[in-house]
Amino acid sequence: MRLGIISALKEEQQGLVDAMSGPQRHNYAMREFTLGLLWNIDAVCVLSRIGKVAAAMTASILVEKYGVTHIVFTGVAGSGDKTVKVGDIVVAEALLQHDLDARPLFPRFEVPLTGLQRFASDACLCEHLAQAAGDFLRVGAHDVFNALEIKTFSLQHSQVHRGLIASGDQFIGSAAHLRQLKQDLPDLLAVEMEGAAVAQVCFELGVPFTVMRTISDNANEEAAVDFMHFVQTVASRYAFHVVHNLCLR
Ligand code: ADE
Repeated sequence: MRLGIISALKEEQQGLVDAMSGPQRHNYAMREFTLGLLWNIDAVCVLSRIGKVAAAMTASILVEKYGVTHIVFTGVAGSGDKTVKVGDIVVAEALLQHDLDARPLFPRFEVPLTGLQRFASDACLCEHLAQAAGDFLRVGAHDVFNALEIKTFSLQHSQVHRGLIASGDQFIGSAAHLRQLKQDLPDLLAVEMEGAAVAQVCFELGVPFTVMRTISDNANEEAAVDFMHFVQTVASRYAFHVVHNLCLR
């Protein structure tokens, strides 16, 4: 097994690369790939940058050039449902590209010539990641946030959710836009900009994958400010501790 770990931004992955033993850095396609052992798991960490094309390219390289057998994407997302709060973790059971619309040739959201709107993530990885996330929220998170003296977020009652994540090349920063999406996707839990692209690549290459997102904002008019604040303060802690728990399982 070789695990590929992708995040869009360095703040979403900080700490993981430093925790690698025997790290070897390779520069390829304007990205830095770090190969090494993460708590005894053979792993490759890389930043995709933002957006679906960047994420698809990164996932393809991880599989084709670096031979990863599994992929986990970790990062932040906007909430796609009232029950999903800032500080909660969403593990994707399925992913969809919310900005894909080839009507009238194909139904809305369908990836042309695949017959699919939604790509399912790997059930086993999803289960392990959700458990690892739950372990972090139950025991680790409190100490981490206390130590950081983070009082701005009410993260005490954070929860893990599993379900639909939608991706698009759009930062959702309007309640009206989110309401529109929600009309067509009532089971939507989170919105972000990369996961469904990784899902399509992994589906086509037959690589098990999943996506874990910590909610940084409510995808409304305050989203950009909340997003920046969350990313700069706590985002990297989630990735570090949840992936740590995952590797130890
Ligand atoms: N990532 C984090 N918050 C987001 C939002 N509101 N829209 C898209 N991607 C995001």
